[in-house]
Amino acid sequence: MKITVIGAGNVGATCANVIAHKALANQIVLVDVKPGLAEGKALDMWQTAPVNIFDTRITGVTNDYTATRGSQIIIITSGITRKPGMSRDELIATNAKIVKDVTEKSIKYSPDAVIIVVSNPLDIMTYAAYLTANKHHSKVFGMAGILDAARYKSFVAEVLNTSPRDVQALLLGGHGDTMVPLPRYTSVSGIPVSQLLNQDEIDKIVEKTRQGGGDLVKLIGTSAWYAPGAAVAQMVEAIVHDQHRIFSICAYVNGEYGIKDIYLGVPVKLGRTGVEEVIEIELNSDERKLLHDSACSVRKLKMVLDDMNLF
Ligand code: NAI
Ligand code: 2OP
Repeated sequence: MKITVIGAGNVGATCANVIAHKALANQIVLVDVKPGLAEGKALDMWQTAPVNIFDTRITGVTNDYTATRGSQIIIITSGITRKPGMSRDELIATNAKIVKDVTEKSIKYSPDAVIIVVSNPLDIMTYAAYLTANKHHSKVFGMAGILDAARYKSFVAEVLNTSPRDVQALLLGGHGDTMVPLPRYTSVSGIPVSQLLNQDEIDKIVEKTRQGGGDLVKLIGTSAWYAPGAAVAQMVEAIVHDQHRIFSICAYVNGEYGIKDIYLGVPVKLGRTGVEEVIEIELNSDERKLLHDSACSVRKLKMVLDDMNLF
């Protein structure tokens, strides 16, 4: 298994590190535009192998896509991040061009790879990679749902003073302020969260989840990377081990939930071939409205991408 990670910044390097620790690949190639960055981080990670005991050969290159030849998975993290006060959406002008460029260059050498997009604004960048790669949509998808659900679960665990591993939850919608955490699909070891927390406590957790990324930007001055990197690695694990795992990712919706032709956070089954199916869960009218509002804001941003005339 050979994996290319484009962008050796915070998220790219972190997900490469987790992938190596979990022994999910024989080879990881980090690519960056900044001379020496990918080479240096790859070397540093490779030198942890004798300590942390893994075999994954990690190398780095500056813009040399020949080194990525034959990758089965391409992870796109290249681009700029938001700074305090910025929304993810403000990144579109810069990141759409970067995502298009790196997708073209990488699929030239790895035409059969599945592509995981991380760059923001996520739902639109995933669409941009899909249009560029010209592959079936089951092979191009984005990471956000696992991250947003992880934040949500961690807040539930914190309030309940319980282990995060016992919290199950589902979250839909775009990776932005309109994301839709679903308390009706949240439980702790099978106990519905509504039996453990009151409505006010649940509402606060939902709001904190929506603001989760922004709160980290305020604290750090740039966006988060530990949880995003770990979330990407979980998707890689599902693909590499053909686990048919069910979680929300940014996937192409083609009529599911009454929504068509956008990328949006929905539950899917993920395995070696990519997205095996989009799973339609039953939603009540409030949840459905929130999902459609979220889809609407993603669609508006897609019009900005359309207006850029890149495709
Ligand atoms: P970072 O600034 O640490 O790293 C980005 C890297 O991309 C830099 O090293 C930069 O040199 C590189 N880069 C820029 N243009 C490139 C090109 N054309 N080819 C190759 N490399 C290029 O940023 P970080 O924190 O790693 O975030 C990366 C992206 O991921 C951002 O857009 C951020 O908003 C997004 N993000 C998305 C998340 C999600 O849930 N989907 C979570 C966290 C971050
Ligand atoms: C996050 O949610 C900025 O999308 C990034 O941390």
